[in-house]
Amino acid sequence: MLMTHMKRPSAPFYVQFELTEQCNNRCYFCYNPLGHIGGQEFDLPKIKDILKQLHDAGVFRINFNGGEPTIRPDFRSILEYATGLGFELHMNTNSTLITDDLAHFISLYMKSVCTSILHSNKEEHDRMTGRSGAYDDVIKGISCLRNNNVKVEVNVCTSTENYRDIYNIGKLISSLDCYALCSTRYILNDAKNKALLLNSAETMELIDSLLKVKNDFPNITDVSLPGPVPYCEIDKSYYEKLRILNIPCQYGYGLARISPSGNVTPCTISDDVMGNLNNDSFEHIWNAPTWEKYECLCHIPVPCRDCNEFHVCRGGCVVYDESINTLGVKIATKKWGVTSGQ
Ligand SMILES: C[S@@+](CC[C@H](N)C(=O)[O-])C[C@H]1O[C@@H](n2cnc3c(N)ncnc32)[C@H](O)[C@@H]1O
Ligand code: SF4
Ligand code: SF4
Repeated sequence: MLMTHMKRPSAPFYVQFELTEQCNNRCYFCYNPLGHIGGQEFDLPKIKDILKQLHDAGVFRINFNGGEPTIRPDFRSILEYATGLGFELHMNTNSTLITDDLAHFISLYMKSVCTSILHSNKEEHDRMTGRSGAYDDVIKGISCLRNNNVKVEVNVCTSTENYRDIYNIGKLISSLDCYALCSTRYILNDAKNKALLLNSAETMELIDSLLKVKNDFPNITDVSLPGPVPYCEIDKSYYEKLRILNIPCQYGYGLARISPSGNVTPCTISDDVMGNLNNDSFEHIWNAPTWEKYECLCHIPVPCRDCNEFHVCRGGCVVYDESINTLGVKIATKKWGVTSGQ
């Protein structure tokens, strides 16, 4: 049945709250590269004020993100305050600053965290993170988390540089007792990196590798391909395989992201600013009329509106397409049945 409308909830299902732009790594593909230099972040009183606003707006789940959230000296105070307000907490962290003591502290506030591994080969991982020693640090951080019973999900920003390594990464994280593997397709952060984007054939190869991980490493109970892949990007014979891995996106309906400068956008990588917390309350921004374009599905491309796969695909990742268009890059894609050249 044709979907024409998505009702937004009275509060987001969860909020991505970026505590800082600062980071000790220098991943060249990161969507926040300038932030490593600028390093914007709010002070603790403002972070507490925002958390209180989220609580009053009816939010109950927060994912702390960054930059690197654990780089903040007041990170523990933030967890204590947020837990006092009753939030269910989770975070994205590169895990490289996690000691046994911090892992124990985290275990009091979070059941699980999501961390990043880019390659099973130490030299490759260090090259991609721009920091020698990053691989050893993340492996140590994961061990500390597991020793303190914090469940670990691993996100791999997947590009042409590492999609063929995904099985080895699965093997590595299985040995580290991580419970989930997320392969998020690389989203273009710079036109000069367009060769990192996976084409249709590479995406299908990735799907096969992820299913092999799911099959061969039963302690990894959750294997997924978020940052959803559009179904028409792959062959029909792969649709059933993709259904096992794909996670339809909540873009524009169920999520809100708060950037380190207070911008509220529909997702972590989106530039569509709905308001800023320096000028307005979260509740006011969440209820602003600017979100209506998402409720009426006006952002969904015309070819998707009467597609049979729309209810599971929703046009794939909105931000993936937006970043390519904004940067004026031409890529090879089979989306909408059109094959365009590089
Ligand atoms: C921006 S990082 C912040 C948290 C933490 N520093 C970390 O690396 O996990 C959150 C996640 O976004 C992923 N990421 C960064 N840049 C990306 C891009 N251009 N496309 C897709 N994922 C990206 C990272 O690999 C990481 O798993
Ligand atoms: S560790 Fe995370 S925030 Fe830091 S540069 Fe890498 S992806 Fe970006
Ligand atoms: S919803 Fe859009 S992107 Fe997804 S398969 Fe259909 S036409 Fe392709």
